[in-house]
Amino acid sequence: MEFTKKILCIGAGYVGGPTMSVIAAKCPQYKVTVVDINAARIDAWNSDNLPIYEPGLLDVVKEARGRNLFFSTEIDAAIDEAEIIFVSVNTPTKDFGEGAGKAANLQYWEATARNIAKVARSTKIIIEKSTLPVRTAEAMCRILNSNSKGIRFEVLSNPEFLAEGTAIEDLNNPDRVLIGAPQTPEGLTAQNEVVEIYANWVPKERIVTSNVWSTELSKLVANAFLAQRISSINSISALCEKTEADITEVSHNIGMDSRIGNRFLVSSVGFGGSCFKKDILNLVYICETYGLTEVAKYWESVVEMNEYQKRRFVQTMLHAMFNTIAGKRIALFGFAFKADTGDTREAPAIDIAKQLLDEHANVVITDPKALDNARIDLEEYGDKFEFIDDPYEAAKGAHAIAVMTEWKEYKSLDYKKILASMEHPSFIFDGRNILDHKALFELGFNVFPLGQPSLKHY
Ligand SMILES: NC(=O)c1ccc[n+]([C@@H]2O[C@H](COP(=O)([O-])OP(=O)(O)OC[C@H]3O[C@@H](n4cnc5c(N)ncnc54)[C@H](O)[C@@H]3O)[C@@H](O)[C@H]2O)c1
Repeated sequence: MEFTKKILCIGAGYVGGPTMSVIAAKCPQYKVTVVDINAARIDAWNSDNLPIYEPGLLDVVKEARGRNLFFSTEIDAAIDEAEIIFVSVNTPTKDFGEGAGKAANLQYWEATARNIAKVARSTKIIIEKSTLPVRTAEAMCRILNSNSKGIRFEVLSNPEFLAEGTAIEDLNNPDRVLIGAPQTPEGLTAQNEVVEIYANWVPKERIVTSNVWSTELSKLVANAFLAQRISSINSISALCEKTEADITEVSHNIGMDSRIGNRFLVSSVGFGGSCFKKDILNLVYICETYGLTEVAKYWESVVEMNEYQKRRFVQTMLHAMFNTIAGKRIALFGFAFKADTGDTREAPAIDIAKQLLDEHANVVITDPKALDNARIDLEEYGDKFEFIDDPYEAAKGAHAIAVMTEWKEYKSLDYKKILASMEHPSFIFDGRNILDHKALFELGFNVFPLGQPSLKHY
C-alpha cells in the first residue's frame, strides 16, 4: 500500500507509544514509525507484553502494528524516510549545573535535533511533543537549520495533554489539540499538515492553532493549574482536620460553583507523576530567569504544599499510633502515582515509604501493577522493604494499612478478614479517601481519612 504520509516519533515512552498507536489506528493511510534508543523498550512494544500499562492500549496497538504502525531501533533510516517527525523524548529536571533541581534538562531533545540535522536529506516538519520550556523551538530551529545541506526544517509545538490511566480515552477524544507554528507562510503550511493528521478524528473546533510560544507555554501552565488545584484542596484538608469540617463536603460545595467546577478537587496524600512537579519547577525557573521573583515564588509554593501534605500524612500516622512506629509493620496499599497505571515516577508512596523507614517501621508494599517499578525505586535500600502482590498477605500481621493509590480493587477487599489477620489496635490511613470509613470503623478499625474527623475506638 502507498502511504499518504510518513510519520515518525522519536521516543517510545508513555507519550510516544500511545499517541502514535492512536494516530496509526485512526489513520491507516499513514505510515507511523516509533523509534527509541532503548532496544528492550522497542522489543516490548513489538510483543504482547507492552512496556507500559494503560487500559485499552494493547487493543489499539494490535489493530495497527505491522499494518501501518512499526516500532524500531533503526533511528537514522526512520528519520531519512519521514516527512513529519514528532519528538517525545524525556525532558527531566536538570540535576546538575545551572538550574539544577528546577530547569528542564534538554540534552536528550538537543541530541535528537542534532541527529535529525545530521541524517536528514530532505525538508521535514519537526514537532515538539515533549513538554519544553517556552521558546525552546527557537533554539531547536537554530540547531536544525544550521545544517550545511541547505535543508529547511519547520519546528512546531504540539504538546500532549493525555493523562496516564486514561491515555487512550484522552487521545481518542481530546478536549483540545494545540498546534503552534511560526507565523510565516512556511510555518502555516506546516501547521496545516499537522492539523490534517488530527482532523482524521478530532472535530475541527477542538484543534487550536496559535503561535509557538503560546503553545509551548500553555502546556506548562495547564499542568501548573492542575497541580495548583490539588495543592489548594490539600491545604484545606489540613484545616478541615483541625476544625471538624469535612473536605469531601467542602469540595462538593465549592465544586457546584460553575466558575470553580468539580474536577481535581479530591484531597489526597499528594500529586505525583513525571510531569506536575517537573513542569512547575520548570515554570518557576523560567520566571526566575526573567526576574519575575514573585511569580516564581507563587508557583513554587504549589510544590511546597505537596511536600507538606506527604510529611503531614506520616506525622498523622506517627501521632495516631502512639508516637512510635518503630518495629511496626505498615502495609502500603498501592505504589503507583495514580490508579490504572504502573508508573511510579514521583509517586507520593516513594516519599512516604522512605519517611516510614526513617521512623524504623517495617514497610510492606503491594500494588496490582507497579511492584516492578517500586522495587527499582527503592533498590538502594536492599531488603529493607518488602514487596507482596496479594494485599491480604501484605496486611497480615500489620499494625496499619495506608492507602497510597486509588485502585478500585482496594474498595472491595474483605476488610473483616484483613482485620482478623492484623495486630490490634488496627489502623487505616486513607490517603485517597476511597474506602467506606464508617463501615471500617464499625468493623473495629481506627480510621484516619484525609480532611475528615478520625474515627477512633480509644
Ligand atoms: N507521561 C505523561 O503523562 C506525559 C504527558 C504529557 C507530556 N509528557 C511529556 O512528554 C515527554 C516524554 O514523556 P514520557 O513520559 O513519554 O517519557 P519516557 O521517559 O517514558 O519516554 C521517553 C523515551 O525517549 C527515549 N529517548 C531518549 N533520548 C532518545 C534519543 N536520543 N533517541 C531516541 N529515543 C530517545 C527514551 O529511551 C524513552 O524511552 C516529556 O517531555 C514529558 O514531560 C508526558
